[in-house]
Amino acid sequence: MQKSWYKEMAVYQVWPRSFCDGDGDGIGDLKGVLSKLDYIKSLGVDAIWFSPLYKSPQKDYGYDIADYRSIQPEYGTMEDFKKVLDGAHERGLRVIMDLVVNHTSDQHEWFKKGIEDPTSKYHSYYHWYKGKGKRRPNNWMSTFAGPAWEYNEKNDEYYLHLFAVEQPDLNMDNPEVREEVKDIMKFWLDMGVDGFREDVITFISKKEGLPSSPYWFPVATGIENYMHGPHLDEYLLEFKNDVLSKYDCMTVGEAPMMTTKKALKHITEGPDQHLNMMFHFEHMAADCLFYSWFKTKFKLKNLKKVFSRWQKDLYGKAWNALYLENHDQPRVINRYGSPEYRVESAKMLAVTYICQSGTPFIYQGQEIGMLNYPFESIDQYTDVSTINNYNVAKKIMGEEKALNLANYASRDNARSVVQWNTEKNAGFTTADEPWFVVNPNYKEINVEAAEKDPDSILNFYRALLKFRKENEIVIYGDYKEHYKSSKTLYVYERNYEGKRMLVINVFGDKPVKFKAPKGFDLSKGKLVLANYKDADIQDNGFTTKPYETRVYLFD
Ligand code: NOJ
Repeated sequence: MQKSWYKEMAVYQVWPRSFCDGDGDGIGDLKGVLSKLDYIKSLGVDAIWFSPLYKSPQKDYGYDIADYRSIQPEYGTMEDFKKVLDGAHERGLRVIMDLVVNHTSDQHEWFKKGIEDPTSKYHSYYHWYKGKGKRRPNNWMSTFAGPAWEYNEKNDEYYLHLFAVEQPDLNMDNPEVREEVKDIMKFWLDMGVDGFREDVITFISKKEGLPSSPYWFPVATGIENYMHGPHLDEYLLEFKNDVLSKYDCMTVGEAPMMTTKKALKHITEGPDQHLNMMFHFEHMAADCLFYSWFKTKFKLKNLKKVFSRWQKDLYGKAWNALYLENHDQPRVINRYGSPEYRVESAKMLAVTYICQSGTPFIYQGQEIGMLNYPFESIDQYTDVSTINNYNVAKKIMGEEKALNLANYASRDNARSVVQWNTEKNAGFTTADEPWFVVNPNYKEINVEAAEKDPDSILNFYRALLKFRKENEIVIYGDYKEHYKSSKTLYVYERNYEGKRMLVINVFGDKPVKFKAPKGFDLSKGKLVLANYKDADIQDNGFTTKPYETRVYLFD
């Protein structure tokens, strides 16, 4: 397998609004980021991915872009961004921008001009259709719930929006739109950024004629017509050949409903490769059907199956993007771990995915084991998709159950402000009121406290990332799973150039007897990572402790 910097790096994701407020207005910003660059570097990561920093009405917190070439004033100026970019580069941190081109904001000039003058070229930048009588052009539903069409009285037409009403979809079949996308890419790459995370990039090509769907879902009806559309390969290749291949940069595409088979069409290494990596969602459905709002019981077996499938199917051909949290997912300890065993399960979950083959992504606050927010009322939520989903759920199950579901499933859980210390507002802002909630557990869970504790989750992440950096086996080794049918243990080995590594993870608090798989003698291995001090061995195995993790290295 070819070596590359993007395979060896670990990435820290910043969701700017809630990261750190540098100017005291209650909203996270670039000054705040600048003040935390040393902290980010200290984690042992190699890059920062910024969720959108661009000018935006913030209906979807930056994923609704009004100007691709300017910075949201609440976050600072282009000068501030350049300072962050330089500051990151000086510290050896690369910078990855979010490229959101499936849709724009309805406040983007293109969209406004297309309404003002329907004969202008900008009108065909979007999907405008006449209704069928009083009916919408088709039966598609937005992925944020509700119809995917909005009526515009002025021109008596509907426009397509797969996300919020304020996020009209771009018409990527229009070559002029693709030229705009390429220009945006060049603008940022010429400034010195190192790559893109491409937002719902697998949705950009819609089936010709936008046919209605024979299937009905409460959200995203019609998804089969765009989730892997007819011209996707072509457009991705065009972006790569015309722009990306001319720079030393990387891409990771966000790809809902992606399977390994389909992913390999895009990320198999070689001249036809479209993207370097993909964020798939399959492993985020071990406690739900498709996504967290269709909640089910957590099943380790489902998680393991997905992990192993992606590890095996891609090995030697393509590269994995590894994550357990981001700004769209509730906190993982609440889902796959245990708030009761917060420290233990956070460390175990970190090992589970970072010791796999791929590029690990860590979301802000994950490194200190932040938890879901204890929302008490729907009025405390601010995310558009949460509110829409709640309204649908309320009709089906009533208010109380819908709120419980939101508390479990909402992505607002990941958006409470980062907890820096025990001061007012967890040190996030000096303003009286931060823009969003501060988790009341901040007195206990915060960066400052974690810095002081050698056994903290934070220091464990540092040790884990250091271990990964110093041992190529973690990056380039192969992967084999053991005890596939266990409902408690997730065990795998990695092999590389004569070295072997055994990774043991315990999901749950009930003790089970672990015995090393055939061919492993634990007494000959070096215990390189563990979340309990007392890691004894008996009979080439041990009785597990709650959410235990151990990593052994064999020369
Ligand atoms: C995926 C982004 O991660 C999410 O936050 C956003 O709401 C949708 N795409 C729409 O851009």
